[in-house]
Amino acid sequence: MNSVVPPIPLIDPDACTGCGRCISLCPKGVLVLSEERAVVTAEECMLCAHCYAVCPHGAIRFNPELLRGPIFTTFTPVETPRVKDTTDPADIVHFIRSRRSVRRYRDTPLEDDTISDLVEFAVTAPSGSNRQDWRFLVLNSREKVWDLAQEIRNFFIRLNRLAGNPFIRWCSLPFAGTALIRYHRDHMASVEKGLREAEGGRDLLFHGAPAVIIIHGPREGSTPVEDAQFASYHIALLAHALGLGTCHIGYAVESINRSGRIRRRLGIPDNGRVHAVMTVGHPDIKFERPALRKHFDLRYL
Ligand SMILES: Cc1cc2nc3c(=O)[nH]c(=O)nc-3n(C[C@H](O)[C@H](O)[C@H](O)COP(=O)(O)O)c2cc1C
Ligand code: SF4
Ligand code: SF4
Repeated sequence: MNSVVPPIPLIDPDACTGCGRCISLCPKGVLVLSEERAVVTAEECMLCAHCYAVCPHGAIRFNPELLRGPIFTTFTPVETPRVKDTTDPADIVHFIRSRRSVRRYRDTPLEDDTISDLVEFAVTAPSGSNRQDWRFLVLNSREKVWDLAQEIRNFFIRLNRLAGNPFIRWCSLPFAGTALIRYHRDHMASVEKGLREAEGGRDLLFHGAPAVIIIHGPREGSTPVEDAQFASYHIALLAHALGLGTCHIGYAVESINRSGRIRRRLGIPDNGRVHAVMTVGHPDIKFERPALRKHFDLRYL
């Protein structure tokens, strides 16, 4: 972002009729009516572009260095908002329920254009305080994905060696709290099993995917983890619409964050954190019916 461009909307006084719609909607209260025209009075604008979206006369725009619409290569987006009258809820639910975590992929590589479209769509996700403070790192080849899987495998071998030693578990308490003890109790056995099965060359971590997208960002901030999860779910949904499969890989998130070696190799800054890792590729599986879910607790007060 160019710091000399003030982060505020530009209002065309000739097009503005003073209807006040943008003013009533602005979540930061930075717009007021002056001489029957909307004007910006403060600099706390969070660039949400609600004012732009609601103006019936197209009187509001932003410097393109600050904000732009998504640029898709593999399809043409529609720029008019879709509302209830034109959207069938059953259709939406059908589509979203048909997305499944895909753990079998064909060897077919992914085009960079496809990945770029997925990321363009990812950043249309909501983010806390509209921070949009996310970064995307793409490993777009089977070799690169496999190399990362090997590094993570080595990380877990080292971790299991530590966690398997009761003396080290006890000594780690002042430094790591109960993290190593909990890992030993909850995950070590399944990781051990995965490591054994992977000895034959099977990629149990990334499921043989031809590409991996890593979403990282600051440790601090409004809601960086949630933001990245929303962005990654957007990727999952568009991928599904493009006939691709995805799977969130939580094991990779934790291991990358805990391994300085892997973080350095991936160029994750010291003050940054990986928030989501997901595989992408052409599914080598066809689901015949949508997902079932467990029973859940719902209460009304
Ligand atoms: C935050 C998160 C982390 C996940 N981590 C993994 C993982 O490491 N490996 C894996 O195979 N699946 C992983 N999954 C996929 C879940 O197992 C999957 O979403 C769940 O079983 C429901 O199945 P569905 O996505 O097909 O509806 C993860 C999902 C989420 C949301
Ligand atoms: S972009 Fe959002 S915060 Fe900024 S003036 Fe418009 S509505 Fe208000
Ligand atoms: S919504 Fe548009 S026309 Fe109405 S006050 Fe705001 S800028 Fe002016």
